Amino acid sequence: MKSVAVIGMQWGDEGKGKVIDLLSEKALHIARAQGGNNAGHTIVVGNKEYRFHLIPSGILYPKTKCYIGGGTVIDPTSLLSEMDALQISLKNRLFISPYAHIVFPYHRLLDKLAEQAKGQAAVGTTGRGIGPCYADKAARNGIRVAELVDGGLLRDRLEAVLPRKNEELKKLYGHEPVSGADIFREYATLGQKLAPFVAPVEEMLYVARKQGEMILFEGAQGALLDVTFGTYPYVTSSCTLSGGASAGMGVGPTAIDEVLGVAKAYTTRVGNGPFPTELSGAELSRFPDHNTSREVGTTTGRKRRIGWLDLVLLKHTACLNGVTKIAVTKLDILDGLDEILVCTKYTGLDRFPATGLEKIKPEYKTLPGWKTSTKQVRSWKELPKAAQHYVHCIEQALEIPVALISVGPERESSFWREA
Ligand code: GDP
Ligand code: IMO
Ligand code: MG
Repeated sequence: MKSVAVIGMQWGDEGKGKVIDLLSEKALHIARAQGGNNAGHTIVVGNKEYRFHLIPSGILYPKTKCYIGGGTVIDPTSLLSEMDALQISLKNRLFISPYAHIVFPYHRLLDKLAEQAKGQAAVGTTGRGIGPCYADKAARNGIRVAELVDGGLLRDRLEAVLPRKNEELKKLYGHEPVSGADIFREYATLGQKLAPFVAPVEEMLYVARKQGEMILFEGAQGALLDVTFGTYPYVTSSCTLSGGASAGMGVGPTAIDEVLGVAKAYTTRVGNGPFPTELSGAELSRFPDHNTSREVGTTTGRKRRIGWLDLVLLKHTACLNGVTKIAVTKLDILDGLDEILVCTKYTGLDRFPATGLEKIKPEYKTLPGWKTSTKQVRSWKELPKAAQHYVHCIEQALEIPVALISVGPERESSFWREA
């Protein structure tokens, strides 16, 4: 079976969770390589809605094994409450790499204080401590799962790291110090709860691959939030690209056969930063409203900014990820529109730029709407001609086939172009 990396091609919230859930029917192994509980993946099965932050979205199929890789950052309290909420036994179902880094209370604190200090220039982070935790990892001041689950090592690392963190809190922000003893007590207990799930994830996936078993790599965030190639500095702090799946799981790039890029039929963004095709004012009010389209952040409850589909952006992120097939999600949201705009060019530019995106003038092509519900559509043939044309436009611009189309949040509201 082919192994597939499922990655977001925009600014996150493309519907990766739903696509992973769909693919998980056929997969044995689902692996999450980067990010933390900044991610929010929503899955609707029957009349039940599940929200995942760190646990791979494939966990709902009883036969799957789910892995949290060394490239992630784990807030133990948040992960344990996600595990509890599932109300199923996760023994031999969920495996955590000892190499993943731990998000501590001072990371969340520093995230909030840094955002406040930036004022107008704030990134609009999720406030989950993700950036400061990755910064500590890169600065060699981090504490990993391997240390968390070993009381002695945890104490040693906290003693080494906390004085520096407290200086940062005091000198940069005038904030009172955090108590090492309190953190040790709380985190040693959390570590003991997570200890049974710690496993040699990297080796397990190597063996799975050797046995020809299918691995799904679940991306978090989207290509333009990538710490290197995203709309810097308005990005998250990990590699969100398909290459990050390999680096963050500790498997070679040869372990990925296909890259399924997930693109929403329009564009959204949460948090600050440039967004060339963003809608505002009267134009935004004509777009299906946030409540209908569920464009409210899964993690923070913030309203997502909304804009037209941007083909310049998608061509760029298809290239960054080596996308081999595309999943178009939320096509149904465009059902009622008379006409739909698609950005095909940035005036005066040949490619997606590394800077100056806020000054871009997008040029649009106007496509006819289909003005009929697609929510019940279950095959390409049933899809209205104008909607087929919309999908063709994406394929032609990117020169990559659209393999999957999603027309509703539910598992069954989607169809493959071919078997
Ligand atoms: P992720 O972070 O990429 O997994 O995406 P989110 O789960 O944060 O956001 C996608 C939202 O759209 C969720 O509320 C999904 O339930 C919903 N959704 C996914 N696919 C579709 C679709 O095709 N149509 C509609 N109407 N909603 C969808
Ligand atoms: P999923 O996996 C959308 C955004 C935040 C902010 C920026 C940095 O659900 O697609 P951070 O807390 O990571 O330091 O915030 O990144 N962001 C997301 N936006 N979907 C996500 O994840 C996101 N994770 C982070 O809003 O702009
Ligand atoms: Mg999300």
